[in-house]
Amino acid sequence: MDIAVRREPIEGERRVAATPASVAQFLKNGLTVTVERGAGAAAGYPDADFEAAGARLVDSIDLGAVDALAHVRPLDTATIAALPSGAVTVGFASPASELPAVAALAARGVTAFALELIPRISRAQSMDALTSQSLIAGYRCVLEAGMRFPRFFPLYMTAAGTIPPARVLVLGAGVAGLQAIATAKRLGAKVAAYDVRSASADEVRSMGGTFIHLDLDAAADAAGGYAKELAADRADRQRELLAPHVADADVIITTAAIPGRPAPRLITTAMLQGMKPGSVIVDLAAETGGNVEGAIPGEDVPVPVPGGAVTIAGMKDAPSTMAFDATRLLAQNIANLIALMTVEGTIAPDFDDEVIAGACLTHAGEVRHPPTAEALAAAPAPDTTPSTDGKGRN
Ligand code: NAI
Repeated sequence: MDIAVRREPIEGERRVAATPASVAQFLKNGLTVTVERGAGAAAGYPDADFEAAGARLVDSIDLGAVDALAHVRPLDTATIAALPSGAVTVGFASPASELPAVAALAARGVTAFALELIPRISRAQSMDALTSQSLIAGYRCVLEAGMRFPRFFPLYMTAAGTIPPARVLVLGAGVAGLQAIATAKRLGAKVAAYDVRSASADEVRSMGGTFIHLDLDAAADAAGGYAKELAADRADRQRELLAPHVADADVIITTAAIPGRPAPRLITTAMLQGMKPGSVIVDLAAETGGNVEGAIPGEDVPVPVPGGAVTIAGMKDAPSTMAFDATRLLAQNIANLIALMTVEGTIAPDFDDEVIAGACLTHAGEVRHPPTAEALAAAPAPDTTPSTDGKGRN
């Protein structure tokens, strides 16, 4: 069976779904690999390295003849329509926001595996692409903040005087937030962090951050280690309690998310008024609605405050900005998931395996992920007219 790897068609996406190392792993498992010429160029993986690893290089992938397609971004409906029935796809699918594509995958009889549906359990850690890409994003957010911040992060004691360390506040301490804490600590900042999940206080402390407790009655834990959305009155109360911490910070990194829902609004424009001019906020959730009022993905927005402005930097395509390492990890996640399903050179998913069953989005004409099936049933009939505008946060 052959694994096809295209150059990602979405503008701005520099990652690719395979590396020479993952190609070698596929071959070891009895699969073959076809790579579109130039597919890895933007991520720093030249064609010659794919060829040396044993991939067959082609000018363009013949979608109609694909056995299995490994991809980064959610597939657009034109691509899906071109796939043969029974093809296997493995990549990010953003099921909650790409319902027409999910309907098209089911209608086409594609067996689609969505990386964001892989259960967050120990056995699946080597396939957990949400984690690998969030790690990159969390690190990058801090560097982006540092480049915009007109001051040092660490304490400096010089002959000309002492410069105090920057005060960094991280809101949302999941994988990206914890990585942001670790990165800001390494740069010498004083780091505080907050999250709604009950386990997060210990996790923040283990990274060297100070945890901020807010008196919100109870934690907001949902299944699978995720957070649940706060009711409107608790969200108001949360912003009210966060306001003094926001005012106190020099740099804020926001990473709060609820799977399948718009990002929770943690900071309003009014809350910025207490911040010092020159302060910087990096909003990793800008593409999913923004934790910060006024954040625009891929743009810096200056917000006037007394004496100057606070900059809100809306992150866009964060993992893609570090495409080499993001690809290295993502391609390995994909290869590990495919290896779990490979039997004697063929992808033969065992749906009794909870990782495989959990990651399966569509199979044999059905949507296998119950929340997505329910969302499709409730949605107006999706437009499955082929289009090429697939998007996605990952
Ligand atoms: P995520 O990207 O869905 O959300 C980021 C963070 O935002 C979460 O920590 C969440 O609690 C927080 N958040 C949501 N609403 C908030 C609000 N109103 N205020 C403040 N914070 C808010 O989460 P991510 O990073 O994907 O991690 C989710 C969970 O999965 C974590 O508990 C993590 O420990 C767990 N996990 C488990 C793994 C495993 O293999 N066992 C691997 C990776 C993650």
